[in-house]
Amino acid sequence: MTTLSKIAKNIIIFGAPGGGKGTICNKLVKDFQFTHISTGNLLRNQVAKNTALGTQVKSFLAEGLLVPDQIVVDIIKSEINQKDSHLFDGFPRTIEQASILIQALKIDAVISLEIPFEVIIERLSNRWIHIPSGRTYAYDYNPPIKHGLDDITGEALIQREDDNPISIKRRLEEYEKVTSPVLNFFSQQQNIKFSNFKGSESNVIYKNLKPFLVEHVLNI
Ligand code: AP5
Ligand code: MG
Repeated sequence: MTTLSKIAKNIIIFGAPGGGKGTICNKLVKDFQFTHISTGNLLRNQVAKNTALGTQVKSFLAEGLLVPDQIVVDIIKSEINQKDSHLFDGFPRTIEQASILIQALKIDAVISLEIPFEVIIERLSNRWIHIPSGRTYAYDYNPPIKHGLDDITGEALIQREDDNPISIKRRLEEYEKVTSPVLNFFSQQQNIKFSNFKGSESNVIYKNLKPFLVEHVLNI
């Protein structure tokens, strides 16, 4: 693992549902000292633990609708630490969330992943996850060592409630309508590096994305 410079770097990994945000973040966390903040994982953990917040957001997640801004912003505020280097995964997803984030923290780069929707739909029905950590597996791409079990803890893998055809369709619609305009918002911000990576293979994308970050953002 490479040590990041003393100055905290904050990077947003942006993309459609199932576009490989979590996969790319896991690779970056292995290679660098980032704090990975996935709002989806944080929300799913609340649902799994049956907390009051979990009860409030459960139906939004299952149906593939965005959780109200205020709830997500409060979660983010409790997770960020000005001294850390953060990787944001699935946040921000609305212009309102983006405006609040850039006021709270200096954002260095926005990395957009552009994956064809047909590829996404196929992958999501084939995905298995470990809820507490958010680790993701697919039997054809990155299978677990033991069938049905998380590699690190040995706990059971499950399929996400929103990885069904109706919710997948709604998530992609929400992305097109509400979230994709956030990209335009960031591309117009000065002092935030913006780059788009196209493709259908996370491993191939990562081969280009990593040197881009090292050279243009992390300066290591
Ligand atoms: P969230 O958990 O963020 O879900 P999402 O955006 O729908 O994205 P995913 O996690 O499904 O996909 P991903 O891009 O991480 O892709 P992955 O790496 O897994 O959010 C869930 C819900 O929470 C939202 O719908 C909303 O309700 C709520 N929420 C969260 N944040 C919010 C916010 N800011 N505001 C409001 N509401 C919010 O990859 C996908 C699959 O592809 C995996 O199975 C992977 O193994 C596989 N894969 C990757 N690369 C390859 C390859 N090369 N070949 C084959 N398979 C591959
Ligand atoms: Mg994810």
